[in-house]
Amino acid sequence: MPDSGVGREAGSLRAPVSELNLILLGPPGAGKGTQAERLTEDFDLPYISTGDMLREAVKAGTGLGKEAKSYMDKGELVPDEVIIGVILEKVESPEAADGFILDGFPRTIAQAEALDEAFAKLGRDLTAVILLEVPDEELVRRLSGRRVSPAGRPYHVDFNPPKVPGKCDVDGSDLIQRDDDKPEVVRKRLEVYHAQTAPLVDYYEDKGILRRFDGTLPPTEVHDHVRATIATLRLEDEL
Ligand code: AP5
Ligand code: MG
Repeated sequence: MPDSGVGREAGSLRAPVSELNLILLGPPGAGKGTQAERLTEDFDLPYISTGDMLREAVKAGTGLGKEAKSYMDKGELVPDEVIIGVILEKVESPEAADGFILDGFPRTIAQAEALDEAFAKLGRDLTAVILLEVPDEELVRRLSGRRVSPAGRPYHVDFNPPKVPGKCDVDGSDLIQRDDDKPEVVRKRLEVYHAQTAPLVDYYEDKGILRRFDGTLPPTEVHDHVRATIATLRLEDEL
């Protein structure tokens, strides 16, 4: 997946527009990764996925990975004090100075408050929180049929199949099933979402930056709606 925001609108004479600081919010399987892949290309923004970062850390056997693994395997959240510093460092890095797409963070009120505090110090604002709404029964169907490339690109055996079965369209690598997509872990992840992450919907609604999308539509339609909303936000900002 693209992870660099450099080179936006090459050849354009337009002055750079102000930053697009976007958060993708939604339950496990809502389509955050699926939409992020498309949106990073549309808007040339760096993509920061906490899940992908943590899985890479687990694979590499780093201190962070060792600490995170037991929580992830059980479908629980990694403690706030472990994740907040790592993500704030990314968001505050020069690559994310013109904006970013955050997937999987914040996931608790404490994480959202830490992000707000860091942004207030920097004089930056969140542009929008994109909420993908999908009911639990559909999420279970999606996660049980999900396959991912080693780089984290998501597919689904029925809803979003790769061109060659079992192979990534982009790099031809073998697709695998994520460890936390086992049915008992999926149930736990949904429980954790409703208890710890869903309160963020009201949190961002109160701030007036929440945008709701019907995540049950086909991926291309969800993408069309989200892209149009972000394009409008950007346009409004330029006027
Ligand atoms: P993370 O990797 O973030 O997992 P998640 O939030 O549970 O979300 P998923 O990646 O499962 O779903 P998605 O919304 O990206 O859906 P996708 O596009 O793949 O986190 C994993 C773990 O890391 C957590 O459990 C926790 O332990 C830890 N963690 C991460 N962040 C943390 C934080 N901030 N704090 C603490 N701990 C943290 O789509 C799913 C499937 O559906 C695919 O097969 C796809 O092809 C298909 N699909 C997508 N869209 C559609 C559509 N519109 N119609 C039909 N099918 C679709
Ligand atoms: Mg994901």
